[in-house]
Amino acid sequence: MSPEPTDAPTPGRVRPRRLRSTEAMRRLVREVDVHPRQLVLPVFVREGLTEPRPIDSMPGVVQHTLDSLRGAVAQAAAARLGGVMVFAVPEVRDATGTQATEPDGILNRALAVAAAEAGDALVVQADLCLDEFTDHGHCGVLTPDGRVDNDATLVRYADMALAQAAAGAHLVGLSGMMDGQVAAVRDALDAAGYDEVAVLAYAAKYASAFYGPFRDAVESQLEGDRRTYQMDPANRREAAREVAIDIAEGADVVMVKPAMAYLDVLADVAASSSVPVAAYAVSGEYAMIESAAAAGWIERERAIRESVLSIRRAGADHVLTYHATELAGWLAEEYR
Ligand code: PBG
Repeated sequence: MSPEPTDAPTPGRVRPRRLRSTEAMRRLVREVDVHPRQLVLPVFVREGLTEPRPIDSMPGVVQHTLDSLRGAVAQAAAARLGGVMVFAVPEVRDATGTQATEPDGILNRALAVAAAEAGDALVVQADLCLDEFTDHGHCGVLTPDGRVDNDATLVRYADMALAQAAAGAHLVGLSGMMDGQVAAVRDALDAAGYDEVAVLAYAAKYASAFYGPFRDAVESQLEGDRRTYQMDPANRREAAREVAIDIAEGADVVMVKPAMAYLDVLADVAASSSVPVAAYAVSGEYAMIESAAAAGWIERERAIRESVLSIRRAGADHVLTYHATELAGWLAEEYR
């Protein structure tokens, strides 16, 4: 056993608790904050609804009509959020996800509504992926033998990006995990004169069980899983590779998803990325907090604040969370 150094500070002199002794002291030394501008609200729109429809596995979240979407965007703007991420569920699905690229497809119409309502107040973000639009539920088109065809999918993504930019999206969020998707979409946007539309790459997106409630929210028809394109939850180093590729291809923002179970990955990415880093607190994270809080097992507001703060502490510049508008309201009180 090594002896105690004789000049070891005695607890009497060195007392970390001093900086925790009052709220004013804690506020002074706090290392990270959450601001409304760092929060992005994901929203769902469902074609053919006459009223918003609750999502059972995501209490408090609904499938919007175009009209109720307008209200949600107005609230997000009033709460001074950073943006909204728009997902949409079409009435009709097919093998190639035709509705994703129709100018009057539900996602593109929803983007136009959101962009008109948001004006300059929010970054209107578009989910760019085919899974909501295909009848098989995969994020891309399939080969005749049923595998996801990477390069044929890139052609669809490029067309989708153009439709979304034309609808008024300020940023497109590539969530499909196809190789080369950032380059394909960047080139298509630039060739069409949309060089100011930003690309967010879901760079490190894992094949996660925590997307369960989302699949209800978009009425997913997927059978099987996405393990041939989304990352293996065991892999940390591989995230750095995905991020480097996406940045080299021109990504303006990179994302880690899910958030809470991947804070180590997020911290790595935040430490090495040359572009802003987003993290997505996904539907299963939301459902866990809501269900435990509803049972009285955790304090709801504290748990929501702590989870988002932890994601910020790990290094996210901004956070996609279904709690964004409500959390921003609490924060506004605090900073007033
Ligand atoms: C795919 C997509 C998914 C989510 C966002 N984009 C689902 C998936 O990859 O299976 C999940 C978001 C969430 O769970 O909140 N377009």
